[in-house]
Amino acid sequence: MKKRIVLLPGDGIGKEVMHSAKEVLTAIAEEYNHTFSFETHEIGGAAIDQYGTPLPETTVDACKQADAVLLGAVGGPKWDNNPSHLRPERGLLGIRKALDLYANLRPIKGFKNLLHASPLKEEIVSGSDLLIVRELTGGIYFGTPSERRDNGESVVDTLAYTRREIERIVDKAFQAAQGRRGKLTSVDKANVLESSKMWREIVEEKKAQYPEVSVEHVLVDAAAMKLITNPASFDVVVTENMFGDILSDEASVLTGSLGMLPSASLNESGVGLYEPVHGSAPDIAGKGLANPVAMILSAALMLRYSFELEDEAKIIEDAVQSVLDAGYHTADLQIPNGRKVGTEEMTKLIVDYIRTLNASKCIASC
Ligand code: NAD
Ligand code: IPM
Ligand code: MN
Repeated sequence: MKKRIVLLPGDGIGKEVMHSAKEVLTAIAEEYNHTFSFETHEIGGAAIDQYGTPLPETTVDACKQADAVLLGAVGGPKWDNNPSHLRPERGLLGIRKALDLYANLRPIKGFKNLLHASPLKEEIVSGSDLLIVRELTGGIYFGTPSERRDNGESVVDTLAYTRREIERIVDKAFQAAQGRRGKLTSVDKANVLESSKMWREIVEEKKAQYPEVSVEHVLVDAAAMKLITNPASFDVVVTENMFGDILSDEASVLTGSLGMLPSASLNESGVGLYEPVHGSAPDIAGKGLANPVAMILSAALMLRYSFELEDEAKIIEDAVQSVLDAGYHTADLQIPNGRKVGTEEMTKLIVDYIRTLNASKCIASC
C-alpha cells in the first residue's frame, strides 16, 4: 500500500516523539511491504518562529492533500505571552477546524503490567477500558468573538453549538458504542447550560435509532468523580469540546501517565489527524525522557482508521504491550523494579519487536 503521510512535529517533546513514530512506521512499511512517504511541515511555535504564523497556508494545503496527518504537540513558555492570534495553540485549533475534524476519539485502556503505575488502587483501575468521544471543532474553544471589554475590566468567551454539530458527534459515539460493549454515557452540564440541555435532548432523540445501545446521562462534575472511583462502569463517553479535554487528561491517570494516551481526530470523510493527548511537556523537552508510546499508538490508530491496516495497527499495539510486559518504561511511569529507559531506547525496543516478529514468522513460513 502506498500512502502520503504529513508529519507535524510541532514543539517541545512533539519533535522527539514524532521521530519515534516515524521509526515505527518505517519498520512497518519495510516489514510489510508498504510505501509510506513522509513530508514534514511546521505548526505551532516552530511555525511562528519560521513563518510568523502558527498555521502557515502551506501546512494546511499539505494536510489537505495527504492521506493522513500525524501531529506531535504544540506550545511552550517561549510563546506564552504572545497575543492570542500568535499562540502555538491557535495552529492546532486552526488545523482541526480547517480539516473539520469534529470527532476526537481518545481510547483509554490500562495495560496489564501498568496497573501498579497508577496512583489509583489496582482494584479500581483493573477492567477499565473506555473511549472518550470528544467534540473537537465547536463549543467555547471557537466562540466568536472572544474579547476583553470595558477597558480590560470584563471579558467574554461564548459557547455555541448548532444542532448539526451535536448530532454528528452523538451519532459517531452511538456507532462507536455499537462496536464495543453497547453503553453510552453522555456527559453534560444540563443543570446549568442551555447548550447542554440541547445536547441531552439530541442524545434522547437519537437513542431510538440505536436500540442496542444503553444510554445514561451524567453531569460533568459527577463524571469527573466516577472516572476515578468506578472507571470500569464506562464504555463510550461522549461530551463537548472542553469537558472532553479535561476528562481525558484525568482519565490518563488510569493508565499511569498522560504519555500513554493516543487519539484520532476524524471528519466525515477524507484525511484524519492523529495526535497524542499530551502536550509539548516543556519541563522534560530536549532531555530524551519523553514517553513515545502515546505518539506511537496514535500512529497505530492512523493505520487502523485511515488505511484500514488492522493487522499492522495490532502489531504496533502488541509491540508496545510486549515491551511494557518485559518491564521497560520511561520515567513518567512509576514501576517498582522496572527497567527505566529513555525515549530512544523505548522506541528501539518497540521497533526491534516489530522486526523480530516478522523475521520469526518468515522462519516459520517463508
Ligand atoms: P503537557 O501535557 O505538556 O504536560 C503535563 C505533564 O505531563 C508534564 O509534567 C509533562 O512532563 C508530562 N508529560 C506529558 N506528556 C508526556 C510524555 N509523553 N512523556 C512523559 N511525560 C509527559 O501539559 P502542560 O504542561 O499543561 O502544557 C505544556 C504546553 O503544551 C502548553 O503550551 C500547552 O498549551 C501545550 N499543549 C499542547 C497539546 C497539543 O499540542 N495537543 C496538548 C496539551 C497541551
Ligand atoms: C489537547 C490540548 C489542546 C486542546 C490545546 C493545546 C489547545 O489540550 O489537544 O487536548 O485543549 O484541545
Ligand atoms: Mn488537552
